[in-house]
Amino acid sequence: MIDRKVTTVIDPQKCIGCGLCVKVCPSDTISMQDDKAWVTGDRSLQCGHCVAVCPVDAVQVDAIDAQGLSFNSFNLKNHWLPPGDFDTAHLVQLMASRRSCRNYTDRAVDRSVLQDLIKVGTTAPSGTNCQNWTFTVLPDRAAVNEFRQRIGSFFTNLNRLAEKRLMRKALKMIGKPTLDNYYHDFYQSVKDGLKEWELYGRDRLFYGAPAVIVVATKPGGSCPREDAMLATQNMLLAAHSMGLGTCLIGFAVEAIKNDSTIQQFLTIPAEETVCSVIAIGYPDEEYQGLTGRKKVVIRYFEAGSNK
Ligand SMILES: Cc1cc2nc3c(=O)[nH]c(=O)nc-3n(C[C@H](O)[C@H](O)[C@H](O)COP(=O)(O)O)c2cc1C
Ligand code: SF4
Repeated sequence: MIDRKVTTVIDPQKCIGCGLCVKVCPSDTISMQDDKAWVTGDRSLQCGHCVAVCPVDAVQVDAIDAQGLSFNSFNLKNHWLPPGDFDTAHLVQLMASRRSCRNYTDRAVDRSVLQDLIKVGTTAPSGTNCQNWTFTVLPDRAAVNEFRQRIGSFFTNLNRLAEKRLMRKALKMIGKPTLDNYYHDFYQSVKDGLKEWELYGRDRLFYGAPAVIVVATKPGGSCPREDAMLATQNMLLAAHSMGLGTCLIGFAVEAIKNDSTIQQFLTIPAEETVCSVIAIGYPDEEYQGLTGRKKVVIRYFEAGSNK
């Protein structure tokens, strides 16, 4: 069930009756009566538009965490940036400078910094403002290593299965090509990675990152996976601006998806779905410039072109 409880409170002493909160409210929670704004609706998106728009600080939404925008590692100005009031070139330079980091120093990431990152993550939009995301922090190398060990066991077993040629072919014949695809796309590199860990202690899963954040979602949201991934992208960008490197680890997500004991081990409730696993640390790599992407497909649908 989506939480739409009304927690909006308007101070009639402060309200000057400008009506701005009524105009921006997406859930008709507020209406004007006798030149004042009143909470009259029976549900709320709890988005805080009314709080942000009010010129006299007359509105409060109790569901919003008062500490949500206070950070340990930087000061945030409580000042709204209007559209167009930020240097796009600078923003895109940040976006294009974020690269998946696969070399980390040993320097630990402070827990307060990890907490800030998560808070930045939650500034992302979410379907029906559900915010059903959860964040599980593995704050040091010891915790990351225990996690890595579990994932290593999962892939050791998977590789054993994938080696069985007849089984792969039989599964493919009955319309289940996943194991055969895995064999062709990943088997060898996973085998090499497992061997390098065993022989040299080289971590080709988390690349020696000293911290990991697992982003999951509770059930019941309208677009839970999308929400979790939007929060994830916010975190990746903020991490870069904070001097941190990050890498999404899809192999870890895949292992958790297929082996519920790993999720249990991380103390993530079974009802939650893990959407992303982010390796985080101080980068031990530097780049000289930016690179682009593959040629993008862009199409325009013009009115009348499908008649
Ligand atoms: C969903 C997802 C899963 C990924 N999983 C891994 C992974 O398991 N290991 C890894 O080294 N990189 C992983 N990556 C990183 C991609 O390889 C990387 O984003 C891509 O090569 C583009 O490079 P960039 O992130 O440096 O721009 C993943 C990326 C995404 C979006
Ligand atoms: S935005 Fe503030 S001042 Fe304007 S009507 Fe709403 S509560 Fe009153």
